[in-house]
Amino acid sequence: MKIILDTAHLEDIRKYNRIYEIAGVTSNPTILSRECADFFPLLQNIRQEIGDKELHVQVTASSCTEMLLEAKSIVNILGKDTYIKVPTNEEGIKTIKQLKHLGYKVTATAIYTAQQAMLAASVGADYVAPYYNRMNNLNMDSRQTITEIATLFKLHHCETEILAASFKNTNQIMDALLCGAHAVTASPQLYTQMVESPVIDHAIKEFYKDWASVYQDKPIYELK
Ligand code: G3P
Repeated sequence: MKIILDTAHLEDIRKYNRIYEIAGVTSNPTILSRECADFFPLLQNIRQEIGDKELHVQVTASSCTEMLLEAKSIVNILGKDTYIKVPTNEEGIKTIKQLKHLGYKVTATAIYTAQQAMLAASVGADYVAPYYNRMNNLNMDSRQTITEIATLFKLHHCETEILAASFKNTNQIMDALLCGAHAVTASPQLYTQMVESPVIDHAIKEFYKDWASVYQDKPIYELK
């Protein structure tokens, strides 16, 4: 099970990389545009922060020829542990196929259906990225789609992994994992929400109170 950060915000990446065992960072043109920074310098800073962990960077061109050129410059500058994110339409499938022949790591993105995932996997994509919340917004069944992709991959001994994305709340993340996603990428604040809440705070404060009632404020390492 892999936890990935869906952000290009350097401070968050630094902070959450220290707390959690993150597998890497995903980005897309929208996420990068929020940082108002130069493309490669920003990504190079992220690369420096995460070392050789996965960095997923999306191409912006629409033709196969140009996507291949973009992929080449992305990997030249950011290293071989960079996954090229390619939107999964027909030109994208053609691009993924060629990228895999050239030895690149590829994430097939903008996945809304099991059919897209199947075709991306058939040309060797390393990951497929189904968009959980965006599917829900279209009244599509995200749980069923991810379950179908997971079943399909298992049934056909497919090495492609499911990297579920597009989450607006923590339940969606858990759902995706329970449906068989191998990895999830989400805004770091959603991971915080999973472990920070008034009920958890309350339980912890009660323990402090009960401890202090007998041992005052002494920590265990000062006791004999
Ligand atoms: O990176 C792709 C995915 O995370 C998009 O998410 O929130 O724009 O639907 P969102």
